[in-house]
Amino acid sequence: METKHITVLLNEAVASLSIKPNGIYVDCTLGGGGHSSLILSQIPDGYLYAFDKDEKAINIARSKLSKIASNFTIINTNFSNIQFALKEYGVTKVDGILYDLGVSSFQIDTPERGFSYRFDGPLDMRMDQSQTLDAYTVVNTYTESHLKSILYEYGEERYASSIAKKIVKERQIKPIQSTLELVEIIKKAVPASYLRLGHPAKQTFQAIRIEVNNELAILSKSLEDGLNLLNSGGRMVVITFHSLEDRIVKRLFHQKTTLNLPKDLPFIPDGYDVDFMLVNHKVIIPSVDEVKSNNRSHSAKMRIIQKK
Ligand SMILES: C[S@@+](CC[C@H](N)C(=O)[O-])C[C@H]1O[C@@H](n2cnc3c(N)ncnc32)[C@H](O)[C@@H]1O
Repeated sequence: METKHITVLLNEAVASLSIKPNGIYVDCTLGGGGHSSLILSQIPDGYLYAFDKDEKAINIARSKLSKIASNFTIINTNFSNIQFALKEYGVTKVDGILYDLGVSSFQIDTPERGFSYRFDGPLDMRMDQSQTLDAYTVVNTYTESHLKSILYEYGEERYASSIAKKIVKERQIKPIQSTLELVEIIKKAVPASYLRLGHPAKQTFQAIRIEVNNELAILSKSLEDGLNLLNSGGRMVVITFHSLEDRIVKRLFHQKTTLNLPKDLPFIPDGYDVDFMLVNHKVIIPSVDEVKSNNRSHSAKMRIIQKK
């Protein structure tokens, strides 16, 4: 299938990095290379390191970036390795880091990748296709209570219990092989009224994808490590697409920018200060026009933090 990834909050995100032409920047989620291309075009004397754990995404983005400049390196690894991987290139400090989380259109619109509840494909959902855990394993081998807790925690799925029960019942007859088989099972497990509220498989697919890619644990670790890499004045920009991710970013940024002192202290003792400040107090979302032209941007939220 011919597909194209439209970059979300392209100009806003890159402007928020407050780019210096000779700075070192990191794009943790290269994807189709939309943000990376714009960053690269603004750093003639700087350098870009771009991460992605999906080799297919890297191949598409590499040729795009090569047409712009050569001062970049693509690193095919999980962004949870940001600190270690950059150190291998002798980089211990950077001027800006960007995360544009989730899956790209290349991934979701390719049925064989198994991310979409709209197309039939194998139950895969691995961003990194060299890893062993896939959606098939989650759906066909996890216990009912494990499935239920994943659907509840990672999907905030109100029918987690009945969906988990139905999955386990159906897989006893025969293994659940494909995305659309799973969709049919979900439809049978939820009340008819739920079908009118949006796609009934949306939350379950989100939950399984988060489990397969261990998305939340990895995000927390990487953000912490990324903040430690920032130079003074350096910024981290994070675009999230669901409340679980946004909560992690919001809490971490709040914690890093808030001084925790005993309440009755009459003054702030010397040496006590926070190392970061929030750049935007109110979360930034795409404009009405952007959402109109790219429906996938509708749930995007962007937060920015700066090292003092
Ligand atoms: C939404 S896309 C990024 C799109 C990109 N900003 C653009 O403009 O084309 C997210 C990308 O991040 C990658 N990704 C997600 N989680 C990752 C992780 N933990 N480590 C490395 N890459 C990851 C995905 O494989 C996907 O290609």
